[in-house]
Amino acid sequence: MPIRNPEIRYLQQAATYKPPNMREGRTEWKSPSNIAIVKYWGKHGKQLPQNPSISLTLSEAYTRTAVSYRVKKTRGLHVDFLFDDRPYPLFTEKIYSFLNQILPFFPFLDWLDIGISSNNSFPHSSGIASSASSMSALVLCLLDIEQQLYGVSKADPAWLQRASFFSRLASGSASRSLFPYAALWGHTPYHDSSSNYFAVGLENRLHPVFKTLRDSILIISSETKTVSSRAGHSLMEKNPYALIRYQTASETIKELLGVLHTGDIEHFIDITESEALQLHALMMSSKPSFILMEPNTLQLIKLVRQFRAQSGIPICFTLDAGPNLHLLYPELYQDKVKQFIDNQLKEFCQAGAWIDDYVGEGPVKL
Ligand code: PMV
Repeated sequence: MPIRNPEIRYLQQAATYKPPNMREGRTEWKSPSNIAIVKYWGKHGKQLPQNPSISLTLSEAYTRTAVSYRVKKTRGLHVDFLFDDRPYPLFTEKIYSFLNQILPFFPFLDWLDIGISSNNSFPHSSGIASSASSMSALVLCLLDIEQQLYGVSKADPAWLQRASFFSRLASGSASRSLFPYAALWGHTPYHDSSSNYFAVGLENRLHPVFKTLRDSILIISSETKTVSSRAGHSLMEKNPYALIRYQTASETIKELLGVLHTGDIEHFIDITESEALQLHALMMSSKPSFILMEPNTLQLIKLVRQFRAQSGIPICFTLDAGPNLHLLYPELYQDKVKQFIDNQLKEFCQAGAWIDDYVGEGPVKL
């Protein structure tokens, strides 16, 4: 049975909040990005996915967000936002629009002067899911403020579910960044507590090999994407392959859940690469079509496949909505892959840049 939308319950909770007493406070969270293995591409309604997705939670690609607040006497949403210590009008606009959207759930925001300061450990809007880390970090700060003002307990498991629910409203993939190692977002009959409204952690059903996966992110270009994820999702509405894609992805979830449990890395490689290429094939078959891969993306894919065949190392690639290549492999092969990157791959990266990331434990309160 699909899980019910918790929205009404959250609104009822919000209705009990009185205007906060005069006070001020601060919170800071570090939240990682995640890399989807089965991709979410296509949505409907209020940020609901057309198919379930599964991701690995990263560590080194993260956003740090600090929020300070002071309770004021007059009402009205007021936010000062700094990105890398500088005003950033585009992001400020996005934050206002998100906070306005969630105001019915967090009515106390209207009584606060809010200062947000954020920075990323990696280039934003370059196909590393920066919205996942930034939006989950922001939501964690808001929930923390809620706790400071009204004593909502973080120990309650429903707290994480709530964090995921609101992160999802900001950016679908953000719903998955909250959980250690791996997360599933979207209803599937193959996992009991799965939901379209929030993600759930998969830590308890992961084979140990997936808890030590490395993700070397090869930066082919850190330029802002020519087509945003938002535009890409909406192009799926007219994509002739949409229906078959949603069905295929839902079946692939079943396969991947099995693989994550048994540790069948060969099968994991097949699923991961196929999903990456399907995502980009959907972009190419949209109307109008678009291509986010660069020539160097294909060059690197060829080299990775050659290296796998020659070395027998279980390494595979995946892509997000951008040109950069994520290389996934067990920790055991870290030194050999590092050599491979240095000797053969780095020259195809922008200024030789890559991020030495790994699957990690999720957000941290600072
Ligand atoms: O969360 P959004 O709306 O930025 O969409 C992300 C979509 C992909 O990153 C391409 C795939 C995914 O599941 O993360």
